[in-house]
Amino acid sequence: MIVVTGGAGFIGSNFVLDWIAQSREPVLVIDKLTYAGNVENLQGALGTSQVSLECVDICDGDRVLTLLRKHEPRAIVHFAAESHVDRSILGPGEFVRTNVNGTFALLEAARAYWSEISPSQQASFRFLHVSTDEVYGSLGPNDAPFSETTPYAPNSPYAASKAASDHLVRAYHHTYGLPTLTTNCSNNYGPFQFPEKLIPLMILNALDGKPLPVYGDGLNVRDWLYVGDHCAGVRAVLERGRPGEVYNIGGRSEMRNLEVVRAICRLLDELEPKAKGSYAEQITFVRDRPGHDRRYAINPGKIERELRWQPRETFASGLRKTVQWYLRNRGWADRVRDGRYRDWMKRQYGDAGAHEAP
Ligand code: NAD
Ligand code: DAU
Repeated sequence: MIVVTGGAGFIGSNFVLDWIAQSREPVLVIDKLTYAGNVENLQGALGTSQVSLECVDICDGDRVLTLLRKHEPRAIVHFAAESHVDRSILGPGEFVRTNVNGTFALLEAARAYWSEISPSQQASFRFLHVSTDEVYGSLGPNDAPFSETTPYAPNSPYAASKAASDHLVRAYHHTYGLPTLTTNCSNNYGPFQFPEKLIPLMILNALDGKPLPVYGDGLNVRDWLYVGDHCAGVRAVLERGRPGEVYNIGGRSEMRNLEVVRAICRLLDELEPKAKGSYAEQITFVRDRPGHDRRYAINPGKIERELRWQPRETFASGLRKTVQWYLRNRGWADRVRDGRYRDWMKRQYGDAGAHEAP
């Protein structure tokens, strides 16, 4: 069996659902169920005997070790994290706690468990750490995309906390021989993404007739990957990746934020037309994110070459699927946008200072 931390979040729940669609191997989800964790994402899976959930904080190393000894996993896939850059700017402490201390506690529990299992189990055990392209910092317009050897230059508290966790994972392989793997992925989108991230926020605000808040001039570039393609990449690294190695995962799909928002508006104009006018009329430019990285781009050549991974979705096909999913699942979106969500929106956008398009 495998353990998946953060399996009730956006990417983790997609990973678990894809896993059970392709394999009969059991999964134990370890998740603290923060605002971003949602048992509803796993509804279909938790009804089966293949998937179980323990509501545990990864910072609680003793409880994690007890679970590892009881379930004897062959692998840990570590998604659990605080993941939203804007939240890390308003409150960095929780990012250091979960992403740095939590990954440290998890590594310690994994090392203790790994030291107790048989040599053949030790050889096949894997600790797969899911990380981000944000650890590499910001690119200029003509810079080459990030590769696995790009120096780290994290710019937000979120990115710095993920960079610290990547270094700990590396050190546990180098020092203790723990068979670790690290993936650094670009921006994901797709079903179950919490609606404070760009794409679901824009879809739901558009449908609610609210402003579509584009930060700064809207020309920041992100490299977008459909979540199912990220999950397939993580599975490829888990099964065929070389211990101690890092694999960058990305969609070769660089887009300016404004282009992304306009593409969403065009899809909504087609699939859910307004009585009058276009959703694009709701686009509003707001004050920029402090320290906003200008451009991310990933060179996924290593995972393509070594592990024969390729994304299946283009940005156009993945975005259409995503918009259709949010249109069909408005109940899900309504349920996650509870009082805490509304408090966050007020705090983040209430005084954001809308201004004219630059
Ligand atoms: P998310 O915020 O949607 O989900 C995070 C999950 O972790 C939630 O279920 C939450 O309850 C759980 N969690 C948080 N703190 C915990 C703790 N202390 N103990 C146990 N569980 C805890 O995040 P996501 O977007 O699904 O990202 C998952 C991972 O992928 C993160 O490590 C993130 O850094 C990485 N990543 C995300 C993206 C992206 O575009 N979303 C891209 C690259 C990498
Ligand atoms: O690059 C990978 C990272 O992608 C992951 O590690 C993070 O977990 C994930 O959240 C994501 O980070 P970003 O900061 O790029 O994602 P976000 O959806 O918050 O923002 C995407 C871009 O859109 C970014 O340039 C900021 C901009 N933006 C975002 C919001 C929420 C806006 O213009 N307006 C908004 O309201």
